[in-house]
Amino acid sequence: MRPVDPTTTPAWGRLTTLAEGFTPDIAGWFDAQPTRTDDYSFTAGDLYVDLSKNLLTDEVRDALLDLAEQTGVAQLRDAMYAGKHINVTEDRAVAHTALRRPADDALTIDGEDAVAAVHQVLERVYAFARAVRSGEWTGVDGQSITTVVNIGIGGSDLGPVMAYEALKPYVADGFEARFISNIDPTDLGEKTKDLDPTRTLFIVASKTFTTLETLTNARGAKAWLLDALVKAGAIDDTDEAKRDAVAKHFVAVSTALDKVAEFGIDPANAFGFWNWVGGRYSVDSAVGTALAVALGPEAFAEFLEGFHTMDRHFAETDPAQNVPLLMGLLNVWYRNFLGAPTHAVLPYAQYLHRFPAYLQQLTMESNGKRVRADGAEVTYDTGEVFWGEPGTNGQHAFYQLIHQGTQLIPADFIAFATPTWALSDVDADQHELFLGNFFAQTKALAFGKTADEVRAEGTPEHIVSARVFPGNKPTTSIMAPALTPSVLGQLIALYEHITFVQGAVWGIDSFDQWGVELGKAMAKDLGPAVAGDEAAIAAQDPSTAALVRYYRAHRR
Ligand code: F6P
Repeated sequence: MRPVDPTTTPAWGRLTTLAEGFTPDIAGWFDAQPTRTDDYSFTAGDLYVDLSKNLLTDEVRDALLDLAEQTGVAQLRDAMYAGKHINVTEDRAVAHTALRRPADDALTIDGEDAVAAVHQVLERVYAFARAVRSGEWTGVDGQSITTVVNIGIGGSDLGPVMAYEALKPYVADGFEARFISNIDPTDLGEKTKDLDPTRTLFIVASKTFTTLETLTNARGAKAWLLDALVKAGAIDDTDEAKRDAVAKHFVAVSTALDKVAEFGIDPANAFGFWNWVGGRYSVDSAVGTALAVALGPEAFAEFLEGFHTMDRHFAETDPAQNVPLLMGLLNVWYRNFLGAPTHAVLPYAQYLHRFPAYLQQLTMESNGKRVRADGAEVTYDTGEVFWGEPGTNGQHAFYQLIHQGTQLIPADFIAFATPTWALSDVDADQHELFLGNFFAQTKALAFGKTADEVRAEGTPEHIVSARVFPGNKPTTSIMAPALTPSVLGQLIALYEHITFVQGAVWGIDSFDQWGVELGKAMAKDLGPAVAGDEAAIAAQDPSTAALVRYYRAHRR
């Protein structure tokens, strides 16, 4: 399937014309169309999604839906769900949706029954999680495990840590998960310094099992564990005792089980997945093993059901009601026609504090591309910068720029009616104050405050303009009853599909990530220079050589 150049479609032309004469007037649109809220509010699974405070009119929506049709978004979606090789630069299927299909579904990918394979691995992950949680799986000295430490980076870290933080109230008492990702040795040091080695289990998660950061940290963790066990008198200082300790304190998650064995982890203690799962789409595979242990298999199964609910919505819902489709198209409207370079995601839920960081990999590694899937250079903007922080913290930091700055920054606001934290009466009032802020911000952004309103408050004329809020700042409000495992799965899948829609319209391959390779290779090549080889330093460009020399001169 060759990608369409979207700029050649009639819908792109129509949107260009609409953008030229576009005068945002959210307040006026609400006045003129009393049904606007209903017309632009949708449900997808447990999510209530209100698009009515966006810079969206019926004409724009219709043209965007035409654009989706003319660029073949639905066909590409169907090809993805069918396990076709839509990741063309790596010649791979893109089948993360298969990870959450129920066991009685069937899908053949590359000649294999993918759903059966998924459920076989899930059963092993669940059995492992049950054994750890019940105390049946013990460390070397027979004590149960109380801390699992996930070692991974990128997709093998951001999803698990985000979901762990989001679902903290579901973590079993007395149990903890930690996450080591950065090759900065302080990450490993900080995360292990107060750990009891006899009660710690490491999960080394790496799709490729070649990632420098992860393998370096895994080696460091192994050294720390064995040293600490010997010092604690839990094992003898012999190779056999150490091998036994690794078997009890290390498991792995990877698509490359041969490399897991080379590293010294018994393949019996490894959980596999497949090259048709992209790293940034893998939290719902065995990469989520730390979650299955910390939250329990039942909660993990609910998490997967949430994803599947959104997958079905995306596959089966009429385009005009299809939330991921509409949100992805809106992002295209803002990016390509109204010139928005960034997009904010603002969860009003402290538990979602890692959600924007997670979305940054999902969206920007997927859609940060400059050529189409057929290799032709794009002539239009692609992936916008995603960023954000939980409200209300962000309100006291960067919202000023959203309200009164010169850039258009579309923003998604996310909130939950009932907190998962058990509230006292006092906390309940506080929760209402919190949600009051959520409602107030989208209202202020949409409707602003005019100069006349500012004057009517008795404001001196010379500061009136500084106190005007222009309004017409677009927001999407997403609400759900509570942040449950299922709702989190729905939210993640929503953003996966939004990302897909944008990439499909742009005709790019959203599933490769060649852009991260050059820096990785250069980091390896720089090894001798960093270690002080003068010839290697001199061979660098002048700036890099000066930086390396600065390091050599100042290290202690
Ligand atoms: O370098 C980028 C990347 O390949 C991501 O796409 C991936 O999620 C991350 O590195 C980690 O890769 P792995 O799971 O193979 O260790």
